[in-house]
Amino acid sequence: MPRIDRRSFLTSGLAAAAIWRPLGSARAENFRTDPFSLGVGSGSPKADSVVLWTRLILDDASAATSADPFAPVPKQVAGPIDVEWMVAEDEAFSKPVRSGLYRAVPEFAHSLHVEVKGLQPGRWYFYRFRSGNAQSPIGRTRTAPEGVDGFRFAFASCQQYEQGFYSAYGDMAKKDLDLVVHLGDYIYERTYGAGLVRRHGAGVPSMLYEFRDRYALYKSDPELQAAHAAFPWLAAWDDHEVTNNYATDRAPDAPNPAEFLARRRAAYQAWFEHMPVHPDLAAGFDALRIFGHHRFGSLLGLTLLDTRQYRSPQLETSASDDRPERTMLGPAQEEWLARTLGASQAKWNIIAQQTLLSERDTRAGPATGYNLDGWDGYRAARSRLLDAVQISKAANPIVIGGDLHAFYAADVKRDFSDEKAAPIATEFVGGSITSDSPSEASLAAALAENPHLRFASDKHGYAIMRLNDRSAEVDFIGVADRKQRNSPASVFQSFAVSDGIAGVNRL
Ligand SMILES: [Fe+2]
Repeated sequence: MPRIDRRSFLTSGLAAAAIWRPLGSARAENFRTDPFSLGVGSGSPKADSVVLWTRLILDDASAATSADPFAPVPKQVAGPIDVEWMVAEDEAFSKPVRSGLYRAVPEFAHSLHVEVKGLQPGRWYFYRFRSGNAQSPIGRTRTAPEGVDGFRFAFASCQQYEQGFYSAYGDMAKKDLDLVVHLGDYIYERTYGAGLVRRHGAGVPSMLYEFRDRYALYKSDPELQAAHAAFPWLAAWDDHEVTNNYATDRAPDAPNPAEFLARRRAAYQAWFEHMPVHPDLAAGFDALRIFGHHRFGSLLGLTLLDTRQYRSPQLETSASDDRPERTMLGPAQEEWLARTLGASQAKWNIIAQQTLLSERDTRAGPATGYNLDGWDGYRAARSRLLDAVQISKAANPIVIGGDLHAFYAADVKRDFSDEKAAPIATEFVGGSITSDSPSEASLAAALAENPHLRFASDKHGYAIMRLNDRSAEVDFIGVADRKQRNSPASVFQSFAVSDGIAGVNRL
């Protein structure tokens, strides 16, 4: 793969004129600092379209506080700004295929969500943006294939900025992938843990501008930018994009649901503004439908779920009554999932959600301990999901998740207490990119206590899944030291799932 260029200002007007068509009546800005400092990204790939993303950062504040008393008064750039985008078949942009203008508006933090249509399936494309005297770095993206005999994607989650560097993303960006799936905890709302390597430099966000600033901080990381620039992404959130352990309109740090929903609306809007998701999501942020089905030829159907927005409040204790009406997905998403799986003709059906679906008793011996923020706190809902998987007869169901800050591989049972039962699906949870992991001892206890949990690791990193006609292979990739910049990463465990036979096979 060609190297992705770092950001650069236009230096040659002649070269630029050859590449970009005239801006015409579009408003151009003379930027004093690089407005593309958050990088570029793409997402929601379909066979004939993809969404391009960037967000302009306008540094009028630093200009206003310039130490040079003779510096010109900063230009007011808070209004709409026209940005030209271009898609080409090659990195030199000698074969342009689509281009256009997009008006970035302050109401959406000058973010761009450009849906580019009319593309060819299963192809690499290069893209970039320009506005005034500024030009973005070059991004690379790939449309979904039609028929296909191989597909590779990475999945990642949990990237607390203060707890480590993004070496995992630096490694991911160099891999040969068709897609990246982010399963949540892209930002964290507050400081956790000790031994921090960098700081948020701000408190817990509740206002829109505070969430925007948090995303801008995370997205200033060059390795995260490299992973966005290299592949199209699909993204779902978990809790920390709003606040820890929230459920629908309740949160431990929010006594007033109405106030919390205002905070949630701000958080959802900021999430939209910083993710390469479809522009139609901007219709409203009181609720945001992010769950969806993504098809990659005949090989892969990927259902991306939202386990946060619609869930019932957490149980008080493990012994609390898990009434059947309690829900994790909400009735509409549940019904949609059953219908979507039932209609899927794909060879592999990935159910991408936020956490571990399989049961996990964390206490040794006859006593039990469950994570009530996970599916173990929503047992009736889990049973309905497993019923839906079975009834749908969707081929080769594989569940992927994050949230636990540990890697897991599991045989998904219809009844987890039945050790002899054959698995009905296979599950892989990716470790955290940086967020603090549980102790090795607690993982060993979970493995000993739950025979269907086949593997666990407290390493930090991400996972890659490779699909073909015969098997799905999964690599767990760990970084040597998340507290070091550019720490090397390597595959530390691989698995295979055979076509037609659910269950983990350790390689
Ligand atoms: Fe997390």
